[in-house]
Amino acid sequence: MSSRPLILMTDPGHYEVSYQINPWMRPDAWAECAQSRAEAARGASAALCAALQAADAQVEILPGRPGLPDMVFPANAAVVLDGTALMARFRHPERQGEEAPFREAFEALRARRMIDEIVSLPDGLFQEGAGDAHWDAHRQLFWTGYGPRSSKEAVPVIAEVFGQEVVALELATQQFYHLDTCFCPLPGGEALYFPPAFTEAGRAAIAAFTDPDQRIEAAPDEAAAFCVNAVCLGRTVIMAKAPARLKAILTERGYRVVEIDLAPFILSGGAAFCMTLRLDHAAARSRPSLP
Ligand code: ARG
Repeated sequence: MSSRPLILMTDPGHYEVSYQINPWMRPDAWAECAQSRAEAARGASAALCAALQAADAQVEILPGRPGLPDMVFPANAAVVLDGTALMARFRHPERQGEEAPFREAFEALRARRMIDEIVSLPDGLFQEGAGDAHWDAHRQLFWTGYGPRSSKEAVPVIAEVFGQEVVALELATQQFYHLDTCFCPLPGGEALYFPPAFTEAGRAAIAAFTDPDQRIEAAPDEAAAFCVNAVCLGRTVIMAKAPARLKAILTERGYRVVEIDLAPFILSGGAAFCMTLRLDHAAARSRPSLP
């Protein structure tokens, strides 16, 4: 495998906001000017892809499917580490139709040796992929979210499948329904997060696994602008249009902030991180092989 980041995105040709499964989704606003919004979405997706490529990533684009608009958020397709993909199971019927096409796409990636192994979740559990399981390369562990979408019982499954440490954070609100909307581990060890999105126990767990100077608290306007939903490639942080305060904080810490206007996707409750899935994350120490 090359050392360039390998990132999956989905072609936005079938993207729209046609139902509501989180409080940000505005089917009415979409419908008012569907055509221009669809056009803007294509432009925004292309701009994100270009920014990833400019940061030296290789981007693989999956085709979307009519009637499955949220396939543009492949972060929710699977949890991927060391070539193993643990396929997602979606909580809402509106997204369950994505499971089969995402699996097919992963079979094709396996045939091309971009993925080695595909694993299914045990029956009865929900887990919405990297959206609720953020790999922290600095600490070598998964930060996982549960509650609104993913089941708490999926947390030990992730630990077992990948043989890595997992921190479980309970999400307290419907606004910040996936971990990646309110928590982002940065490559230098900082954690950018929005404290009100977590229960007290969740905040305590974040405090236990980070030093005070590593914690960057997003303000409400920064969280609502989906800036926490960022893609980090080395010292480059790619995110939706960001308030000046957050840009200044990250710049001071030595990061280069690249902003993309992702408004058409924020209308569905998603932004840069959800629109991508890293296929090349590798642990420093991979899981011991089973007897
Ligand atoms: N409309 C999608 C949903 O509610 C947005 C998903 C965004 N993905 C993410 N990983 N946060 O499921």
